[in-house]
Amino acid sequence: VIRVTDLDLKGKRVFIRADMNVPVKDGKVTSDARITASMRTIEHCLKAGAKVMVTSHLGRPTEGEYSEDNSLKPVGDVLSAKLGKPVRLIKDWIDGGFDVAEGEVVLLENVRFNKGEKKSLDETAQKYAKLCDVFVMDAFGTAHRAEASTHGIAKFAPVAAAGILLTEELEALTKALLSPARPMVAIVGGSKVSTKLTVLEALSEKVDQMVVGGGIANTFLKATGKNVGKSLCEDDLVPVAQALMKKMTARGATIPIAVDVVCGKKFDANEPAVLKDAGAVVDDDMIFDIGPKSAQELVDIIMKAGTVVWNGPVGVFEFDQFGEGTKKIAEAIANTSAFTLAGGGDTIAAIQKYDIYDKVSYISTAGGAFLEFLEGKKLPAVEILEQRAAG
Ligand code: 3PG
Repeated sequence: VIRVTDLDLKGKRVFIRADMNVPVKDGKVTSDARITASMRTIEHCLKAGAKVMVTSHLGRPTEGEYSEDNSLKPVGDVLSAKLGKPVRLIKDWIDGGFDVAEGEVVLLENVRFNKGEKKSLDETAQKYAKLCDVFVMDAFGTAHRAEASTHGIAKFAPVAAAGILLTEELEALTKALLSPARPMVAIVGGSKVSTKLTVLEALSEKVDQMVVGGGIANTFLKATGKNVGKSLCEDDLVPVAQALMKKMTARGATIPIAVDVVCGKKFDANEPAVLKDAGAVVDDDMIFDIGPKSAQELVDIIMKAGTVVWNGPVGVFEFDQFGEGTKKIAEAIANTSAFTLAGGGDTIAAIQKYDIYDKVSYISTAGGAFLEFLEGKKLPAVEILEQRAAG
C-alpha cells in the first residue's frame, strides 16, 4: 500500500479517517488513548504543510441524523489541547463550502451523521473524495467496516494512503500472527464461546498453546467431564470444545485446562471467594476465576513463549477477589521476553488495572477489527488500499 509518509503533502487537501470512537461521559472524553494514537498521522500531515481534515465516527447514531450525544465536540476539545491550538469542528461538511489553511487542522463532524455512510453508497463516498487530494486511512479500529469513509472514499480519492497508526497496527499484528516466534500462545478470555468461536477455531490451527479463560473456559472444563455448577457455560458448544481440543492435541498443541478454580455462589462485588479443586465444584457454585495452581501453570507457559496474543480476561477481574488469575497473567505478560500483543476493550481495562501498559510489546487500539484479524479475515478498508496501490 501507499503510505502517507511517502507522499508530498505540501498544500494538499488531506482527508484523514481516524478512529476516535472514544468513551464520552458528560461531554468529556474519559479515555483518550485512540486520539493519542491518531496524533502521529495528524502531526505528520501538519508539518508537511497539508490542509488537514480529520474525521471519525462516534457511537452508532441513527444514520443520516445529527445527535448531540454523538457529536465529536468532546473529541475536538482533546484534539485542540493536544495540538495546542483551536480546532474548528465543521458540522455540515459533506458538500464542502469550507476552507482549510495550510498547516491547519479541522475536525469534520461524526461521519455517521451522513446518509450513505454505513451503507457505503458511492454517491456519499464520491462527495467525500471531492473534498480531498489525498485520502489517508488511519482508523485501524474501524478497518473491518466497509463504510463510505473507510472503504468507499478509497475507491474515488485521487490518492489513497495508509496512515502511520494503521501501518504500525498491521505490522504488529502480522508479526504476531503470520510469522510468530515459537512457542506461540494465545489467551482468549471472555464470557462466551459462541462470540469467539471463529477466533478460537482460527487460532487453534496456529498456536502451540491456547489458553481459554472466563465463561469460555467453563465450557471447556465441562467438555473434560467436570461439573461447572451454575457457572456461565454453553452446553450446546461442549461438543465443539471437545472437537477443538482433539484437533489441537492431534497436532501436538494443547489447551491447558484449570486444575483449581475460585468460586462464589452469586455474581456480586462482595461475594466471598472460595478456592476449590476443579473436580470439587458443586451444583450451586459459580466459577469466577482460576486458582493459583492453574495460574502458575499459565505463568510458566507465558514465560517460555516466543509470542503471546492476549484477548480477554480469565476471571471476573473487576471484583478484586476474582482478579488474581488475570493479575498473574498480566504480570507474566509484563515480565516475559516474548513478543506480546494485546487487544480488545476488557483486555485494555485489565492492562490498566494491573499497570502493565508500558510493558506490553504492542497494544492494539482495535476491538472488533483485532478479532477479525485474529480470525484471519481480510479487513476491507485495508484490502481496498492494496487494490488501489496495485493499480
Ligand atoms: C470499535 O470501537 O470497535 C470501532 O470503533 C468500530 O465501531 P463500530 O463497531 O460501531 O463499527
